[in-house]
Amino acid sequence: MIETNITKMFGLKHPIFSAPMGPFFTRELALAVSEAGGLGVLSNVNIIGTDPVEEHKASLEYMIEHTDKPFGLNILTSRNNRGVRQMVRGLPRIVMNNPKMRDQCKYWLTSAGSSKILPASKSFQELRENSDVKHFHVAPAVWLAQKCVDSGVDGIVVTGTEGGGHQSYERVTTLVLLQQINNAFPDLPKIACGGFATGEALTAALSLGAGAIAMGSRFIASKQSEFHDKYKALIPPGTPQDTGLFTGAFGPIRLYKNKYALGHPAPSSKEEMIAYEESITPEQRVHDLGAYDRVYKGDIDTGAVLLGQSIGIINSIEDVNDIIEKIIKEAEVVIKNNYSMIR
Ligand SMILES: Cc1cc2nc3c(=O)[nH]c(=O)nc-3n(C[C@H](O)[C@H](O)[C@H](O)COP(=O)(O)O)c2cc1C
Repeated sequence: MIETNITKMFGLKHPIFSAPMGPFFTRELALAVSEAGGLGVLSNVNIIGTDPVEEHKASLEYMIEHTDKPFGLNILTSRNNRGVRQMVRGLPRIVMNNPKMRDQCKYWLTSAGSSKILPASKSFQELRENSDVKHFHVAPAVWLAQKCVDSGVDGIVVTGTEGGGHQSYERVTTLVLLQQINNAFPDLPKIACGGFATGEALTAALSLGAGAIAMGSRFIASKQSEFHDKYKALIPPGTPQDTGLFTGAFGPIRLYKNKYALGHPAPSSKEEMIAYEESITPEQRVHDLGAYDRVYKGDIDTGAVLLGQSIGIINSIEDVNDIIEKIIKEAEVVIKNNYSMIR
C-alpha cells in the first residue's frame, strides 16, 4: 500500500482519483473507482435539457445507495456554465441534510472558473464547519494556484496541457507545472492530473510533491465507464498526436482530431477566443452545442471527443479494479527499485 497526505486526508486505500468528465455521466465509473479503493468523482452533467442540481442529486443518491466509500463531485464555476449559482447553494444543502452523503461526499472539486464561488456560499460554509469535506480547485498555472490559495482551498489539482478535455491558455506540461507549483507551495496538498496512465507515472507524481493522481482518459477506456463503445475504441490504437487543442465552451479543450475538432480554431489567448465566439453564426452555435449529445450517441466524427495525450500509452479496455491494482503494483516496484539505487 502507498500512503500519502491525500490518502490520509480522504481515508483511501490508493492514491488514485477519477478526473471529472462533464458533461458526460461518470456515475458507474465513480462508483467503480471508489469501490476499488481510489476516489471516484461525479461529473457536472449539463447537457441541454438537464437540470445540473437534479443530475448531481440523483448521482449522490445513487452513490450512497451502492457504496460506503468516499467519493467526490465537480462543479464547473465558469460564468458560462448553466446553473452554477444553484449548484453552489443547493448541493451543499442537499449533502448537509443527509448524514450518509455528508460522510462520504468529501471531495468538492471546482474548476474552469473562479475558486472563490464555492467557499463564498453560505450553505457550503455550513457544510464545511459540520463535516470533513474538502475543497480542491483545478490549477493549470502557478498564478492560478496562488488564486486558489487566496480562496482558502484545502488543496489543488495540478493539470498540465497534455490532459484531455478542459485546458487553459498556459500550455505548460504536467511535469514542469508540478515542479513550479511544488516549489511555490510545498505544503499545499496536490493531486497531479493530465497524462497519467501507469504506475511509473504515479511514482513520478509522488516524487514531484503530489499525494495522488487523477486520470480521465485511462478510465474512459474501462469496462465500467459510461462512454460509448466507439469512443472507447479510439483509445487503444490512439497516439498523442491524434489529439490537439481547439476552441471549447470554457476555453481551450483537448480533443481527438476528428471532423468536429478540425472545424474549430486553436486560439492562443482569451481575446482570440472571444473574437472567434463573436464570429460564429447561430447555426454553428447550435451545431457546437449538439456536439456532446452526438458523441454520447456514438457519433465520433461530428461529436466532440475529449481525450488526452495519454491515449498513446493506453493499450486496452480493462476493468477499473484491474487498472488500479496494476498501477499500484507497478508503482511499488518502481519505488523499491529507485530506493535500491541509493548508496
Ligand atoms: C471526456 C472528458 C471530459 C472532461 N470534462 C471535464 C469537466 O467537466 N470538468 C473538469 O474540470 N475537467 C474535465 N476534463 C478534464 C479532466 O478532468 C482531466 O483534467 C483530464 O482528463 C486529465 O487528462 P488525462 O485524460 O490524460 O487523464 C474532461 C476530460 C475529458 C477526457
